Amino acid sequence: MHELTLKPQMGVDVGPLHFKNPLLTASGTFGYGAEYAPFVDLNQLGALIVKGLSLLPRAGNPPPRIMETTGGMLNAIGLENVGVKAFIAEKLPFLRDFDVPVIANIFGETVAEYQQVAALLDRAEGVCALELNISCPNVKKGGVAFGADSDLAAEVTRKVKEVTALPLIVKLTPNVTDIALIAEAVEAAGADALSLINTITGMSVDAERRTPHLKNITGGLSGPAIKPITLRAIAEIARNVDIPILGTGGASIWSDAVEFMAVGAGVVEFCTVVMHYGFRVIDDLKSGMSHYLDDMGFSSPGNIVGKALPNIIMHDDLPRTKVRSHIDEKLCIACNICYVACRDGGHMAIDQRPNRIPHVDWDRCVGCGLCQHVCPVDGCISMQMDG
Ligand SMILES: Cc1cc2nc3c(=O)[nH]c(=O)nc-3n(C[C@H](O)[C@H](O)[C@H](O)COP(=O)(O)O)c2cc1C
Ligand code: SF4
Ligand code: SF4
Repeated sequence: MHELTLKPQMGVDVGPLHFKNPLLTASGTFGYGAEYAPFVDLNQLGALIVKGLSLLPRAGNPPPRIMETTGGMLNAIGLENVGVKAFIAEKLPFLRDFDVPVIANIFGETVAEYQQVAALLDRAEGVCALELNISCPNVKKGGVAFGADSDLAAEVTRKVKEVTALPLIVKLTPNVTDIALIAEAVEAAGADALSLINTITGMSVDAERRTPHLKNITGGLSGPAIKPITLRAIAEIARNVDIPILGTGGASIWSDAVEFMAVGAGVVEFCTVVMHYGFRVIDDLKSGMSHYLDDMGFSSPGNIVGKALPNIIMHDDLPRTKVRSHIDEKLCIACNICYVACRDGGHMAIDQRPNRIPHVDWDRCVGCGLCQHVCPVDGCISMQMDG
């Protein structure tokens, strides 16, 4: 007899929105959806967030616009798009045939422009929410200029809320001193949800020609390199605001999505990974997350949200105790990687012995943890209390 196993259901609620699964394509990958429909089943996406829309069509920045970096990608597209009217007339009708929520990412050079774009989309059939891009680092006017100032961020949020009944997701920039402050201001101004983080301003230089790779000089850094920054930002904001969070920035595999959700994101947006590896990643993401939920005994992705937050101990509450490295001689394989690491990058606290099993001198050890980090044997080096 076959045992009946119940597959976890993948649906999630984010404020007033319901998605079939928590895996969304972020604005900037997937264009307006139609271009990709022949190659990928749009219905399998949690939601499709279209390329940023402005009031008038935009040509964007001159090329080169994209540069690969270690673990990431710099882009300076400059929000090239067809304009909101062409989107409504030519792109949106096609998307209505699909069973996928469409979120319109919008952008303006002034508050009035943001309002005009929002008002036009409010009347258009087939858009379930607006994502307010106040965080693009690649344009001269608008974008990050709004997202870096809590008063301006709140003002544009409030003004856009006045002209639309659509749920408003405000997309935040990490290029600020205190992202939680901006998040709180935007929440108070009426945002229904937050998405974070947009790209981080960076630069890449050609050593041979001694010139910036990007014509725009700077670009927005995305991809795996920024994932730790995203995690920190989500965790910080989740502790300070009550509205839902859409996590974006450096997620590449299903476990990244789990991590984002564990620190407080309700759903996850993917961009650079789709550009690098193509649509097939979406299947992998979905099946990876489904297996994880199954293995963990969770009935839905919503069960993960915020689960890591109680494990976050704030800096002031951490115990201040001296710790020192301890090597378990029974597990040690005498590779001496720890010896080299401590000699060259630590505090020369590890001595080599004739049997090649290293020994830690606790008077010299400062408990930095480098040896534990490089040791290839799980559990062989532990950090123990001194005294
Ligand atoms: C080529 C490119 C174009 C993008 N265009 C937009 C855009 O139009 N509007 C927007 O809000 N974010 C845009 N983004 C930012 C992404 O939506 C996403 O927030 C960011 O890339 C971080 O996620 P990732 O590391 O998964 O790429 C763009 C990113 C890239 C790489
Ligand atoms: S790195 Fe680990 S296994 Fe290798 S010598 Fe040091 S303690 Fe032993
Ligand atoms: S904890 Fe740091 S100082 Fe101590 S033995 Fe390891 S690498 Fe050396």
